[in-house]
Amino acid sequence: MIPTDLGSYYRLHSKFYDVTRWAFLFGRNSLQKFFPELPDKANILDLGCGTGKHLKQLRLFYPKAEITGIDLSSDMLRLVNRSIVESVEIRNEYYEADTFTEDQFDLIVCSYSLTMMDDIPTIVTTIQNHLKHSGMLLVVDFDSTAFNWFSKWMKKNHVSFEANVFQLLEKKFKVEFKMTSKGWLGLYTFSLLLAKNYI
Ligand SMILES: C[S@@+](CC[C@H](N)C(=O)[O-])C[C@H]1O[C@@H](n2cnc3c(N)ncnc32)[C@H](O)[C@@H]1O
Repeated sequence: MIPTDLGSYYRLHSKFYDVTRWAFLFGRNSLQKFFPELPDKANILDLGCGTGKHLKQLRLFYPKAEITGIDLSSDMLRLVNRSIVESVEIRNEYYEADTFTEDQFDLIVCSYSLTMMDDIPTIVTTIQNHLKHSGMLLVVDFDSTAFNWFSKWMKKNHVSFEANVFQLLEKKFKVEFKMTSKGWLGLYTFSLLLAKNYI
């Protein structure tokens, strides 16, 4: 099941996504510095891969890995670089428990996708199940805001601050690294987290 409202949001926003998001989706460029060491034939998922910014970096960093990008928006996926499309598996699906099998991935990357998902606590459990024991999770996303109006405005843009994603992740995973910075002079914070699955 693909929820139509997020799909139609990206039908419009995909048209200017790559030329606008550098201005507020901070930390995405730093993500590759935290790619962990993995076995050669590792299995990697870019969850909510969008237009494929990190698929390209993952392909270069892990040349022999099996890499999958999943996104519910066909409009975003259409913008993934063609040479990358040929070297990874792309799935146009809504991510949920039965999308993958248990213990499948060595690494799951989520760049500004978690805060857009429905029922974030369930999604975090789903990620844990899809990760192998000791598999790694690498996330960059919005973290907090002190401004109610901003939270409401972001909700209209399908981003939820209410689920406190990073607090949840810190409870459920063994954190290896976390960095929090201010965006737009403190209007919000964003965090980058590298953590290990211990289930
Ligand atoms: C803000 S974009 C980030 C895209 C990319 N990771 C990046 O850093 O540029 C969030 C993406 O997550 C996708 N997404 C959100 N919820 C999803 C779900 N439940 N299943 C699959 N994709 C989802 C959206 O369609 C969108 O392309």
